[in-house]
Amino acid sequence: MMTAPATGAPAPTVAPVMEVKNLSRYFDVSPTWLTRKLSGTGKQVVRAVEDVSFAIRPGETVGLVGESGCGKSTLARMIAGLIEPTAGEVTFDGHTVAKAGAGGPDSRARQSVQMIFQDPYASLNPRWRVAETVGDPLLAFSIVPGRRAMRDEVARLLEAVGLSADDAGKYPHEFSGGQRQRIAIARALASRPRFLVADEPTSALDVSVQAQILNLMRTLAREHGLTMLFISHNLAVVDHMADRVGVMYLGRLIELQDKAHLFASPRHPYTRALVEAVPTIESIGMKRPPLSGEVPSPLDPPAGCAFHPRCPIAMPQCARTHPPAVPFASGGWAACHALESA
Ligand SMILES: Nc1ncnc2c1ncn2[C@@H]1O[C@H](COP(=O)(O)OP(=O)(O)O)[C@@H](O)[C@H]1O
Ligand code: SF4
Ligand SMILES: [Mg+2]
Repeated sequence: MMTAPATGAPAPTVAPVMEVKNLSRYFDVSPTWLTRKLSGTGKQVVRAVEDVSFAIRPGETVGLVGESGCGKSTLARMIAGLIEPTAGEVTFDGHTVAKAGAGGPDSRARQSVQMIFQDPYASLNPRWRVAETVGDPLLAFSIVPGRRAMRDEVARLLEAVGLSADDAGKYPHEFSGGQRQRIAIARALASRPRFLVADEPTSALDVSVQAQILNLMRTLAREHGLTMLFISHNLAVVDHMADRVGVMYLGRLIELQDKAHLFASPRHPYTRALVEAVPTIESIGMKRPPLSGEVPSPLDPPAGCAFHPRCPIAMPQCARTHPPAVPFASGGWAACHALESA
């Protein structure tokens, strides 16, 4: 595994700028009232994100990993202020980005926090020219005084992401997937954000262009002093991008450590299994399942530690009580009963 510094993590004493507190999001996926009556079933609720808390320091990139369906995108959307939590809150620099019952983020938080999505085909409006896509936030947040300044700034942004000023007049369908993701990055940067949420920004792209986009994001994050939450199901990608790495399982954050510590001495049994399953940076795309057994349904998560049906060292108490976060001297933590007595 590569463990070069990513964006240059600040000293742990620096106060966090992004704070996520006890964040949960449930989705009601019940069948209709009539179907429920006829089949005798009750309401069904997906617990997509359950009681997640962590903080990110200015200039730091935190990576999040976890298998498909574990709640990464739902957490990302809440942190970007795009969906409302069921409980808990997200603040950036003291401003509310998301809070149960509080409506959307204020305009300051909307400008400061931007998101880059997995699918660059779906995230761009096909009827807008690049100039409109990238220029829209410039006018919306009054970053430029008028149309002429907007044209100049769009050209500058396009060049910053490796496209040409002439691309401003084209439509999304005229570009490849990698180029579209560059347009999405230019749009995200247009509002002069301080925080980026990137949700698997390269997993829909050809392997040959993934590294280019990842390196572009790293360079831009460094140049603009951005703080970042970078999500991937791929540990090698997170290793390349992040300073600290969090691991999710069935809606919960179960471990968070410095990248070097997480890869050298993963503490949660699930993290250990993930790290052992990815031997090299070359293994873009996890080919084999890291563990035997399926991830249980978030409709009916196991009691106690949700990992207990698959855990090689599960103890009787694991099926009964949820494990608390156990802090380490290194500054990280993991939630596992086996670490409590260690
Ligand atoms: N809008 C939604 N309505 C119902 N269920 C949802 C919705 N969004 C996500 N889910 C469910 O929440 C869980 C977590 O999904 P998601 O956050 O997309 O995970 P990931 O990004 O890790 O694959 C999954 O079981 C998914 O089916
Ligand atoms: S709490 Fe128990 S079941 Fe969960 S990971 Fe730790 S040992 Fe395994
Ligand atoms: Mg996702």
